[in-house]
Amino acid sequence: MLLELKDVHVHYGKIEALKGVSLQVDEGEIVSLIGGNGAGKTTTLKTISGLRSCSSGSVFFEGADIGSMPGHRRVLAGIGQAPEGRGIFPGMSVHENLLMGAYARKDDHSKELAEAYELFPRLAERRSQAAGTMSGGEQQMLAIGRALLSKPKVLLLDEPSMGLAPMLVQQIFSIIEEINRRGTTILLVEQNAQQALRLAHRAYVLETGRIVRSAPASELLDDPQVRAAYLGGDVGGGDTGDTAGAEGEAGKVALGKTAPETGKADGEDAPDAE
Ligand SMILES: Nc1ncnc2c1ncn2[C@@H]1O[C@H](COP(=O)(O)OP(=O)(O)O)[C@@H](O)[C@H]1O
Ligand SMILES: [Mg+2]
Repeated sequence: MLLELKDVHVHYGKIEALKGVSLQVDEGEIVSLIGGNGAGKTTTLKTISGLRSCSSGSVFFEGADIGSMPGHRRVLAGIGQAPEGRGIFPGMSVHENLLMGAYARKDDHSKELAEAYELFPRLAERRSQAAGTMSGGEQQMLAIGRALLSKPKVLLLDEPSMGLAPMLVQQIFSIIEEINRRGTTILLVEQNAQQALRLAHRAYVLETGRIVRSAPASELLDDPQVRAAYLGGDVGGGDTGDTAGAEGEAGKVALGKTAPETGKADGEDAPDAE
């Protein structure tokens, strides 16, 4: 096992954002963590990368407890992250931003640099452009490319599809798949559950700081409760677009509570019982 969280609790002051999260990521996998806004997805990634510390519980990487390891050492150990909101340096060029990804390394990074440009030809075209003047999608590519420069064993991605046009979302997801195919393990946080579940091998559902489901991704795609809560009740069409997100928000408490067996299934899009 590459990465493991055991009963992790994380607080912001008195607010308990993670209430005992346990999850595992094996080498070679794409594991997706889905959940609504405020569920604790970003906090989970920050706890793995060392930006937040656990109040209790443990984080293991390659079998070692890394709970007290500072963030920059975790990067060197092989934990790479493309953070929420991208976190690129707007005044620096695309090329300089990519090189920042390798700042902690002492070995040669030319192979990873070439690979980032190969995966994202758009970045190669714009290598001397100021990163802050790039489009949202290009900045997302840059954030992922920069994370690759640290030569990660596991790549943590925080909502890479956020704010992107559907065509670009497809592009980003297929590049993520390619990065995994080339050998990098991926932990993918997404509110875009449908896309994430199509890509992932396994997935966890997070609700208000707790894991409420864990299963092979294909199983969750077919699960009526998950469909109702996160997929807008329709996985067949494949084009639920923005409404899926809106309905996912509305239904995000559905899994934590026991769904009523009887009574009216409100909502036109509620999936059929069979
Ligand atoms: N810096 C912070 N200070 C206080 N509370 C925070 C902070 N960051 C996140 N939280 C709270 O922790 C919970 C989980 O947030 P977050 O991990 O960002 O969720 P998600 O990424 O799933 O939207 C939310 O209730 C949020 O309000
Ligand atoms: Mg978040």
